[in-house]
Amino acid sequence: MTQADRPSGFATTQLHAGYVPGTPEYTVVPPVYQSSAYAFSSLTEAREKFALREQGYIYSRNSNPTQAVLEQRLAVLEGGVAAAAVSSGQAAVALTTFALLGRGGHVVASSQLYGGTVDLFGDTFGDFGLEVTFVDQDDFDAWRDAVRPNTRAFFAESVANPIAQVLDVASVAEIAHEAGVPLVIDNTVATPYLLRPRDFGADFVVHSATKFIGGHGSSLGGVVVDLGTFDFSAEPEKWPGLFVPHWRYGDVSLWEAFGPERAFITLVKSKFVGDLGTALSPFNAFQLITGLETLDLRIARHVDNAKTVASFLDRHPAVGVVFHPSIGTNPWKGVARTYLPKGSPSVFAFELVPSEEDAFARVERVVDALRTIRLVANIGDARTIVAHPASMTHNHMTPGQLAAAGISQATIRISVGLEEADDIVADLEQALARA
Ligand SMILES: Cc1ncc(COP(=O)(O)O)c(C=O)c1O
Repeated sequence: MTQADRPSGFATTQLHAGYVPGTPEYTVVPPVYQSSAYAFSSLTEAREKFALREQGYIYSRNSNPTQAVLEQRLAVLEGGVAAAAVSSGQAAVALTTFALLGRGGHVVASSQLYGGTVDLFGDTFGDFGLEVTFVDQDDFDAWRDAVRPNTRAFFAESVANPIAQVLDVASVAEIAHEAGVPLVIDNTVATPYLLRPRDFGADFVVHSATKFIGGHGSSLGGVVVDLGTFDFSAEPEKWPGLFVPHWRYGDVSLWEAFGPERAFITLVKSKFVGDLGTALSPFNAFQLITGLETLDLRIARHVDNAKTVASFLDRHPAVGVVFHPSIGTNPWKGVARTYLPKGSPSVFAFELVPSEEDAFARVERVVDALRTIRLVANIGDARTIVAHPASMTHNHMTPGQLAAAGISQATIRISVGLEEADDIVADLEQALARA
């Protein structure tokens, strides 16, 4: 095996995949190709590229060389065959499910999801004639029973935001495959450093790259990764978007034109990103690539800090329950041992002990007293941040949906950052004194 053939480790891949210096300037860092469009050397070249018979850049809504580095790097880190970088995590979730469901499709989704995804599936999907059934992700019979003739995907988060329920990915993947549909995993909270869904049978991964991938709270972005494991050709009639020849692609099917490895990602990019306009800006792609370069180092520290903070919260008299898999009584501790051998993510939640007083008022007193820790509607920042899901990120959800997701008025979400663990604990301690 030559040096060039050697499979690289995670840290090497996160620094090098998708970019070989080769522009005339030989920049060692992937450049920001801040250009809306690309010049063609001839009209024939333009015609061939527009007809998708020749590969190459046309317009940055469809593709861009800086986006391409991010796509290739994340595809390798997730063990996939192709990826599409898009404007946000929300776009990654929406476009993946639109592309899989086609017209009149149905998704079986976990009830334990980020609030924006619940809004998309539970509300906006209906506007487009798409259907959803939410199930408790730990109830395997519920996944099985929810399948209908028009089901085209299963969807869940590997580690759910905000309660950190850990999904038994392999069991849900098996049920999805029995039903002849792919399992899509939102791997935002875990990241491929802690968990690779492909290793447990998942077929697609989506990311809000806004979070740990960027890692510094500066840029929105999302990525869809085709893990190359789902055989669409087993039942081509279920996937007309891939198998029916279409005038948009010169009267051939995407499967015929691009093959199993690129057909789905081409559908996402050339149809959905192109038509709906959810392109990732080259500058944001650059920021996300830079963030990726230190993913393993940052996540290792996030994990260590989170464990320290969870243990402190667990011992604090004002805290009733801490939803972190390192805590002895956590229901997902066993599943986490299988799926998260390097440790549990730093996004989790805790609840104040019940009292006569209104939960919102008590949470507000604690949150408003924080000094280093900020109240922010985000996760995966380098800084430690908290949120109150019931009134912020998950505020559109009905009381029933909140209960199904495990969220109450007393729930505080924390995304533990990279500060000194002692400083995070000290800030929480002085704030919890007001509970
Ligand atoms: C698990 C998860 N998926 C998707 C999203 C949506 O990502 P974005 O905010 O980048 O659109 C979020 C945002 O918080 C999230 O936490």
